[in-house]
Amino acid sequence: MKNPPCNVARASAGSLKRCLRSSDNLHSGNEIGLSRRVEEILVNSGTVSLLTRMIANVCFSALLFFCFVPTTAAQELSKLPYVPTPQIVVDEMLKLAGVTAKDFVIDLGSGDGRMIITAARKFNAGGLGVDIDAKLVALSNKQAKTDGVADRAKFVEQDMFKADIGNATVVTLYVLPDFMERLRPKLWTELKPGSRVVAHDYYMSGWHADKRLDLTVPEKVTANGTDKAYLYLWIVPSKVAGGWRMDFDVDGNAQQKIVLAINQQYQVINASAENALGPMRLEKPLLRGNEISFDLTVGNTAYQFTGKISDGKMAGSAVSPTSAKPVAWRASKVPGEPK
Ligand SMILES: C[S@@+](CC[C@H](N)C(=O)[O-])C[C@H]1O[C@@H](n2cnc3c(N)ncnc32)[C@H](O)[C@@H]1O
Repeated sequence: MKNPPCNVARASAGSLKRCLRSSDNLHSGNEIGLSRRVEEILVNSGTVSLLTRMIANVCFSALLFFCFVPTTAAQELSKLPYVPTPQIVVDEMLKLAGVTAKDFVIDLGSGDGRMIITAARKFNAGGLGVDIDAKLVALSNKQAKTDGVADRAKFVEQDMFKADIGNATVVTLYVLPDFMERLRPKLWTELKPGSRVVAHDYYMSGWHADKRLDLTVPEKVTANGTDKAYLYLWIVPSKVAGGWRMDFDVDGNAQQKIVLAINQQYQVINASAENALGPMRLEKPLLRGNEISFDLTVGNTAYQFTGKISDGKMAGSAVSPTSAKPVAWRASKVPGEPK
């Protein structure tokens, strides 16, 4: 028998818990009505409907209140309610992150394990779910076994803020905005450049998403009070802020010594350059993961530079309309600057 539909505003604590924990669509991959819209590059998070976001926030916060009344204040602060991501949204999140068999996915606050189990089942990825609720962790490990993916989908009971996420290539999140803010420094410092972070409904202020996907998911109305789902993707960039000394070997003569100065706000960079003759024209600096590109005029020639960053070094090639072949360049961090 199916549970009656939940109305968050009217539900008692008991019925609310029941309906939140009901899992009609658990790992079923059911195809329900869904429409999607993708917004590429530098999302202005303010464009999301304020009303919808407020409703979702109120519902999610109401769940927090109802679900954890008997806990201590310290526990309250470190816990989130368990609200599952609909399976169709799970699928879209993993697609948005471009998950493949080469990935290791970590879900911080993994609930019933559906994100990691789906990553293992549908994309052959390895993964780890971290949740503070021992019962959900046990349920997830059991489900992974049932689904035949226990070799690569594992779950541990741990506070997400203490989890080691350094080996993740993808991190998935469905947590409240204050958790997003508190996780931001951890994601920024612990994840390797090129790793992807995908979040359901909530974003990090100050670190603009690289991509946003808007979905209409009727299934969400019951638990969330809205049929809207907003997915956000961030690609963790290399840390490039500071000064760089560049060698640019025009004609193989290493004749150009150029100093680059880069300002960085996550993946958004501004850069300037100068050589012995003074400031140079540098335009369109772009950083994506560990890849950098910019246009730089050397002498009278405008070059398009592309390169990769690794361990405090950059290297790549530059092309211009007049150069017969790409010209190699490399740069290293000015000594004393953090890598
Ligand atoms: C909104 S649910 C998301 C579940 C799952 N990621 C999904 O999308 O279906 C949040 C989960 O975070 C867990 N949680 C709350 N506080 C936590 C913490 N400090 N560390 C780890 N997990 C936590 C809860 O037990 C709950 O399962």
